[in-house]
Amino acid sequence: MKEIEAIRKHPLYMEYDERLRDAEKGRKFCCHQMDHLLDVARIAYIIDLEHDLGIRKEVIYGAALLHDIGKARQYQEGIPHEQASAEIAGTILDDLPEDYYSREERQEILRAIFGHRRERDGMSRLERLLYVSDKRSRMCFACDSEPECDWSREKKNLEIEI
Ligand SMILES: [Fe+2]
Repeated sequence: MKEIEAIRKHPLYMEYDERLRDAEKGRKFCCHQMDHLLDVARIAYIIDLEHDLGIRKEVIYGAALLHDIGKARQYQEGIPHEQASAEIAGTILDDLPEDYYSREERQEILRAIFGHRRERDGMSRLERLLYVSDKRSRMCFACDSEPECDWSREKKNLEIEI
């Protein structure tokens, strides 16, 4: 998928990906690196297919790959990561060839990244899809740090949901 590879290999993406890997070394709680990003993408695409949402695969994977890219800035500078990620994603998406994502798709992706942390009324389809897939991707039922994790019980995945 050329769109996704162009995101992954963008110099800014690589820089923040490395910063995040350093920042999460030894972290006992959830990490936000490639395995998580792809879990989110795949879960989101399954939901997209199951519910016939009709969101383009490249849009789903792009949003998933970018949604936590600013997490290092949250750890190091205290900037909420949805805000940092949307900002970094905006620069990266603007650098891609114009036919990779339409202007509307870029805006949709940025909105979904910005809104992915909190469920609320009026979410766009992609925003809600990213939120749900992000939460579903976590295997709290198999996590040693679950008792110390500050996620509410309702958010935690305490059993396998299919
Ligand atoms: Fe995430």
